Parts: sequence; C-alpha cells; structure tokens
Amino acid sequence: MADATVATLLSAATQRIDRLDAEILLANLLGTTRAWLFSHGEDPVPADRAERLRARVERRAAGEPTALILGVQDFWTLTLKVTGDTLIPRPDTELLVELALQAPQSGPLTVLDAGTGSGAIAAALSSERPDWRVLASDCSIAALRVAACNCGKRVPLFCGSWLQCVAPRSVDMIVSNPPYIAEGDPHLDALQFEPITALTSGADGLAAIGELVEGSRETLRPGGWLLLEHGFDQGRQVKALCESAGYTDVTVHTDLAGHERATMAQWP
Ligand SMILES: C[S@@+](CC[C@H](N)C(=O)[O-])C[C@H]1O[C@@H](n2cnc3c(N)ncnc32)[C@H](O)[C@@H]1O
Repeated sequence: MADATVATLLSAATQRIDRLDAEILLANLLGTTRAWLFSHGEDPVPADRAERLRARVERRAAGEPTALILGVQDFWTLTLKVTGDTLIPRPDTELLVELALQAPQSGPLTVLDAGTGSGAIAAALSSERPDWRVLASDCSIAALRVAACNCGKRVPLFCGSWLQCVAPRSVDMIVSNPPYIAEGDPHLDALQFEPITALTSGADGLAAIGELVEGSRETLRPGGWLLLEHGFDQGRQVKALCESAGYTDVTVHTDLAGHERATMAQWP
C-alpha cells in the first residue's frame, strides 16, 4: 500500500473530526506547524506516525479534548502541561490575569490563586510579576502535581481548602476561578474528561464563590482585592454577594465575547 500523505491523512481525519483539530494533531505528531502542512500536502508520512494519528483521531472523535490528547494547552504567554486531573485552562480565564495585573495597588503584592488546578493563573502572574509573592492552593493533590510542573519553584503550593493555607489579613489579592456550574447542568455532558470537582459547586453553582467571598473578608489586608471568575449569567448574583458581605468598588467585567465573566471587589 502506498504511503499515506499529509493530504490523504487530513482528508481521512476530517471524516471523523474538525479540520482544525486534525491539523493540530498531525502538526504536533510531525513536530511542525499547521502552516507547514498547507504547502506539504503531497509529502509522505511514515507509517508509524500515520497509525498514531489514526489513534489520536479516534480519541478526539470520542470527545476527548485536543489539549488532553496532546498533554499541553497554551495559556497567556505560556504552554502548560495538562492532564485529566485538572481543568484545561480556558482563554476566558486570561481576563482574571489581566485584571490582577491592572489592579490599583502599589508595590510587590502577596497574591493567592485559590483553586489553582494546573497552576495557570499563578504561573501567568508570577511570570509577569516576578517581584510578587504568588501562592497557590487546591484541594486536589493530583492537580497540584501538575501545577508544580507548570509553576516550578517560583510558586509555593498548598493542599487544602481555598484559603486554609494563609493567615488572616496576610494577602493583598485573592484570584480564583472556582467551580461554578450548577450540579445537573446539561453542559456537563460535554465536559466529562475534566474532574467534576473542578466544575460543579452546589445546586446553583454558587457554593464555592459564596465560600470565597465570605472567607476572603478575613484573609485580605485592608484595601486588598478579590477577583473571581464566574458564569456568564452569574455577574449580578456575585456582585450582590460581594456587596452584602461588605466589599466596596464591586465591578463586573466582560470577556472578549461580551459575556460577564469576572467580578472584582475591594475589601475596605
Ligand atoms: C475551575 S477549576 C480552575 C483551575 C485553574 N485555576 C484554572 O483557571 O484553569 C477549579 C479548581 O478548584 C479546585 N477546588 C475545588 N474545590 C476546592 C476547595 N474546596 N478548596 C480548594 N480548591 C478547590 C479544583 O480542584 C479545581 O482545580
């Protein structure tokens, strides 16, 4: 049988999965870029690579995210390791990083990434602000092993509940992308390759956010900031939770798609 070529492999793969995913999977296997594939359609692909592509295509066709098949995901300026033990970092979460970097505070800060998962937020903040003391916590030891690969020695990691690792009034900023999907939400069907503990939080999705709003009152220094990611339809509720807990300057921020995605609040 003639060797498969770049073009024939892509054509077969797109019978099963999106063209973009097929190109990403093949480019990764060949150690090249998607752009290279366009001008090398007639190039032969060694049989072992072709076989590995077919296996990857089957995994993708079964619903496994491309990031998990490759074991990496780009976030901010970084390429992060990901496994089935962590949420795959989403571009939406880069909004939290932007807001944290713009927060009106002077001098080096102590910042906690609560529920760090792959370490995405902590790694991005410590790469941008090496003068900040960035800490990270998660209740999943398996997730923290991944975070350790992504954050290196720069970020101390703590296993435990959200804010357990820090003393009262010791933190200038708490940044968190907690689980915020309601239990039983139909969107969960499409997220079965990620840990359920990273996704859901109570019947209305607001249990973890409520805990963080409440607990951060004791943990933040006066003038410190709480930055929370939430669902596109939870902005009004999260703002109300922060205001009734006594925070000031509570603002809801939209992502690039115009969805309310993050709330920022200052402890007086
Ligand atoms: C939505 S994921 C966010 C992961 C990462 N920060 C990101 O943005 O990609 C939520 C994370 O919170 C962690 N988590 C859930 N409940 C927790 C708790 N009570 N205390 C600490 N972390 C918790 C989960 O293990 C998960 O890693």
